[in-house]
Amino acid sequence: MNLELKQHFANLSDSEFLFDTDLSRSSTFALVARGSLLKVRSVPALKKALKLCTEYRLHYKVIGLGANLVLPESFDGLYIKLLLPTPETKMELRETYRFPASINLSKLTQFAAKVGLKGWEVFTGIPATLGGAIFMNAGTRLGEISELVTRVEYITAEGEEQSLIIGSENERERAFSYRKNHFCHNSENKFGRDAIITYVELTHKGYDDTIKDSIKDYQLKRNRSQPISQKTCGCVFKNASRKLHAGKCIDLLGLKGLSHGALSVDHTHANFMVNRGGASAHEFEKLVKMIKSELYLHYGVHFELEVQVSTPL
Ligand code: EPU
Repeated sequence: MNLELKQHFANLSDSEFLFDTDLSRSSTFALVARGSLLKVRSVPALKKALKLCTEYRLHYKVIGLGANLVLPESFDGLYIKLLLPTPETKMELRETYRFPASINLSKLTQFAAKVGLKGWEVFTGIPATLGGAIFMNAGTRLGEISELVTRVEYITAEGEEQSLIIGSENERERAFSYRKNHFCHNSENKFGRDAIITYVELTHKGYDDTIKDSIKDYQLKRNRSQPISQKTCGCVFKNASRKLHAGKCIDLLGLKGLSHGALSVDHTHANFMVNRGGASAHEFEKLVKMIKSELYLHYGVHFELEVQVSTPL
């Protein structure tokens, strides 16, 4: 990054720029990583930042909660962390709710449990911001977050504000598929030029007092079946189909405990990798390759990565 651009970022209002900083604590996986980080607190600041990235041909990548990310050891682009203000207004019962993309999903789960919002149990326990969850249409066995979305506001790489209204099932199917959105990706499919989600409007499927019990029950099951207190990046692979669960397939192949350097396939849930300390994206790449080729040999299927990788592996 040249000096002129560094100065532009340093002078941006509503933001904080950290050049070539240690990012090992910016992701739950805690891989060894360095890079430049811009913390952005307003939409105008984000628009300016993206315009600068486009003008100076700089790649960028959003870090939400950093729970589903593999950061490379170094990245000469820009990481962006959104810290948009959450409106202070009390959350009362309504048909739709508009939230900043940077809000933590756990806050929304707490609210859903309190008032019994039907449908919101689908994102229980997913460690993500709302924007990150929409970007990858996150979900659990209870469903996908896209089922609740009625509008998404986002900023393109050129710094333009856009919004997508989802008013019918057809529009939903065009906008989302399994662990994918179809509107934020750059039409030329260029790495590091995706649009950034800023606000999301969510609806619900009515009220139900028992939602808090489903949420609690689901949380307990998840805590038992996943290594939630370890350094992981969530599920590494997407499921190949409803029957071919990546975790189950890896487990059946006896690959739990398989290691490369400081990285191991988890013993509780085989679709997780645990960083025992000091692992890097290089080790991740190696372990992924080993598992993918075993999976292909035995199941004849290429399992795709679910985790977001900041530079193409
Ligand atoms: N299983 C095994 N061995 C394992 C792991 C799982 O036999 O090591 C079996 C389980 O016993 C179960 C089946 O495989 O019969 C499916 O397992 P699970 O219920 O954990 O679901 P999953 O498909 O492996 C999905 C999501 C998770 C989400 C869980 C729970 C994907 C790729 N993963 O996992 O999401 O937490 O359902 O709802 O869709 C994530 O997105 O990062 C993530 C972890």
